[in-house]
Amino acid sequence: MKLLVIGGGGREHALAWRLAQSARVQRVYIAPGNGGTDGGERLENVALTSIDELLSFARNQGIAYTIVGPEAPLALGVVDAFRDRGLKIFGATQAAARIESSKDFAKAFMARHHIPTAPYQTFDDAAKAKAYLTTQGAPIVVKADGLAAGKGVVVAATVAEACAAVDRMLDANAGSRVVIEACLQGEETSFIVMCDGKTILPLATSQDHKRLRDGDQGPNTGGMGAYSPAPLVTPALHNRIMREIINPTIHGMAREGIPYTGFLYAGLMIGAGPDATRRIDVLEFNCRLGDPETQPIMMRIKSDLADVFELAVNGRLDEATIDWDRRVALGVVMVAENYPAAPRTGDIITQLPADRDDCVIFHAGTRRDNGVLKTTGGRVLCVTALGDSVKRAQATAYAAVQQTHFDGQHYRGDIGWRALPASEAQT
Ligand code: AMP
Ligand code: GLY
Repeated sequence: MKLLVIGGGGREHALAWRLAQSARVQRVYIAPGNGGTDGGERLENVALTSIDELLSFARNQGIAYTIVGPEAPLALGVVDAFRDRGLKIFGATQAAARIESSKDFAKAFMARHHIPTAPYQTFDDAAKAKAYLTTQGAPIVVKADGLAAGKGVVVAATVAEACAAVDRMLDANAGSRVVIEACLQGEETSFIVMCDGKTILPLATSQDHKRLRDGDQGPNTGGMGAYSPAPLVTPALHNRIMREIINPTIHGMAREGIPYTGFLYAGLMIGAGPDATRRIDVLEFNCRLGDPETQPIMMRIKSDLADVFELAVNGRLDEATIDWDRRVALGVVMVAENYPAAPRTGDIITQLPADRDDCVIFHAGTRRDNGVLKTTGGRVLCVTALGDSVKRAQATAYAAVQQTHFDGQHYRGDIGWRALPASEAQT
């Protein structure tokens, strides 16, 4: 069968790479893809952008089903458009995507369904927002209401900084709103599940590193690296997350007439203390897989992923299981000069080691220009390795990073540090 993956980042490369290993898959088209998905054995980039172009392509090529990577096409209604025309697609509908595309919708939904999250208020008036900030004090968190490609959140250390964020976000466009919420303490983790509207299938746990520099310092980014599993999420915590967060969310959406299909990503803050009593709060929901969390997650899938999606798009996810590699997978993201502020583009990738069974280089911001691999900015590559421990996965990933080169490259040297103590204790 032929499949279509929408998107062009590292997440989509990892999805397409794993799907292409299925014996039943002849070809995976990626729209628009990147330099890593261009011309592989069974991978092919297609330059399609609009929903109409994607629809015609899927119909004309006899695509068995489509998988949507990023949030933007989901929020635009690509899933609704495909289904209206009888085409199979895995992703959240436009209504369900509001769980990510509107912070205000997500917060009000959580309040309605008693899903734990930081206390908040929403404002469209800067003076009222600032008055509220003054009564609350700092630290405090200011979030733009709409999709902001990971740039709409400011964790402000002072009220002045929070006020400046309000001015910027409310000035940006008319009718805009901000959510102001309490600043939570603890350790963050990602928790991602698949859903077909009825059945929930949790993926392996994962954790990413959002800050640009070692020791979790510097500005927030889309993600500088990730690993799976996340030792923080013990079996006891896993059960609580399903019971207290994921089940009420999926069932709450169904009760509101919005059956949830696709990936649901909960960004969680886990408070200190014993597993039975520590706080679990939702920082955000995403209606898609995480990037870079997907890269280590895909490395660990041993089952035929094309079969799992086929069951999911046919409402038969209850028949699916995923077999996970017991090893640790860890991905190091290499970014362009001046990321995230104004990343440089056009650098030539002069050294790139070959992929191996235990180490794969997923591309994100790359393209092939007459056979020359060049950076297109932002997150360029995610070097992802498997190992029997965090330390071994780190050693393999960083050895490959050393063999990779483009001018202006930057990466963190400590991906996985939070998981090291737990991993060492097991080996
Ligand atoms: P979001 O896009 O909502 O996940 O926010 C991006 C990042 O901001 C999160 O990964 C956290 O590091 C931080 N953040 C968001 N909300 C809060 C909060 N209420 N308390 C502390 N940190 C937060
Ligand atoms: N890695 C964070 C995200 O995908 O939103």
